[in-house]
Amino acid sequence: MAPVVSGFSKLSKDEKINWLVKHHFNNDKNTIDIIKTYWNSDEKLQQLHDEFTENTISNYYLPFSVAPNFLINNKRFTIPMAIEESSVVAAASKAAKFWQSRGGFNAQVLSTTKVGQVHFTFSGDIEKLNIFFKNIKSDLISSASHITKNMEKRGGGIIDIELRDKSLEIENYYQLHCTFSTVDAMGANFINSCLEQFADFLTKAAAAYIKFSESEKTIEIIMSILSNYVPECLVRASVSCAIDDLPSKDNLTPLQYAQKFVRAVQIAEIEPYRAVTHNKGIMNGIDAVVLATGNDFRAIEAGAHAYASKDGKYTSLTEAKIENNIFHFSIQLPLALGTVGGLTTLHPLVKLALNLLGSPDAKKLMEITAVAGLAQNFAAINSLITTGIQQGHMKMHLMNILNQFQATNEEKQKLVEHFKTNTVTHSEVVLQIEKLRN
Ligand code: MEV
Repeated sequence: MAPVVSGFSKLSKDEKINWLVKHHFNNDKNTIDIIKTYWNSDEKLQQLHDEFTENTISNYYLPFSVAPNFLINNKRFTIPMAIEESSVVAAASKAAKFWQSRGGFNAQVLSTTKVGQVHFTFSGDIEKLNIFFKNIKSDLISSASHITKNMEKRGGGIIDIELRDKSLEIENYYQLHCTFSTVDAMGANFINSCLEQFADFLTKAAAAYIKFSESEKTIEIIMSILSNYVPECLVRASVSCAIDDLPSKDNLTPLQYAQKFVRAVQIAEIEPYRAVTHNKGIMNGIDAVVLATGNDFRAIEAGAHAYASKDGKYTSLTEAKIENNIFHFSIQLPLALGTVGGLTTLHPLVKLALNLLGSPDAKKLMEITAVAGLAQNFAAINSLITTGIQQGHMKMHLMNILNQFQATNEEKQKLVEHFKTNTVTHSEVVLQIEKLRN
């Protein structure tokens, strides 16, 4: 077992690596080589990455890919995607190509409101608290003017603050439920700074409020933090086409294909075991764009899954239907994304990704990202209801298996050719490698 270490973060990078290798890798020199292989030779760039977090010892690469041919609101996009799962980008590209000749994707932002809360306890007369809140509300908002000044210049700021009574659920528990517009920023720092200011103002104002008794004057702030649940920061994307324009695949007529597709989505609507996997496939596309554009994929994941259970039961984020011989497929979900601040101005690949998308504002990025999720879901269901998922998946996974066996370029070429007409399974690939090598 490694010994307890103090002051680890203050060690130099080399000292940290030496400690790690001594206590966890038996002083194995090869481990040091692996860590250093991923260092960037450009020292300034490496330092930039080192300083993103604490205790950085190396870089962890993900493939940075692009999926072309996305027609969104009549404009063509090549979408950047950072993801390791083999078949995701191929699936997105395939769906993009399919829909670009059928009118493309429509997308629109429905709302952009972000939320933050000050959670506090107050023991006393609720009516007095309500009156106190009404009295201080406008001063409470203006107490944050030094923080909101710049955001207001950009068209954003505080939308409202409500006092919410939660004392039936937890004794003496109340909230300031605050709503914000953060325009093109994701806004976490802005919101959290405002909330901490509100908390400070609230406690001081309560202590000075003459109509409060001594115990009422002591409001206890439990915490002040933004919420990643943003059901009013919503985007919708959709596709539609005549049934006859759908594929006739796997012995299915276009109508049978559409009906089977709709049935597959209905299953995800009513069956949580399926819904979670269905939505995971959607998040394959969404997270990849969120990561490539320097946004916080954990926030997006948490918000999306919470939204999927907003009616008390976890369900599909997409919907499909047939109406008047037209197939309709759509997604609606919250996406609190930013195109300014955070990594967007720091990480060279993030900057490149945003440039590739034509330097979108946050709303445009919400639309593009929702489309990536819808495309991913379309591709997954298309495979699931026809060939099955493994055919495409294993074809893309083939290269991973070949790399596991350190196949040479010549071996790769031969085996990729072989598996164009043969089913890829792990054991079959191993067999063919052995055959080649013998
Ligand atoms: C795999 O990463 C994602 C899928 O399982 C999604 C789905 O089943 O819809 C293929």
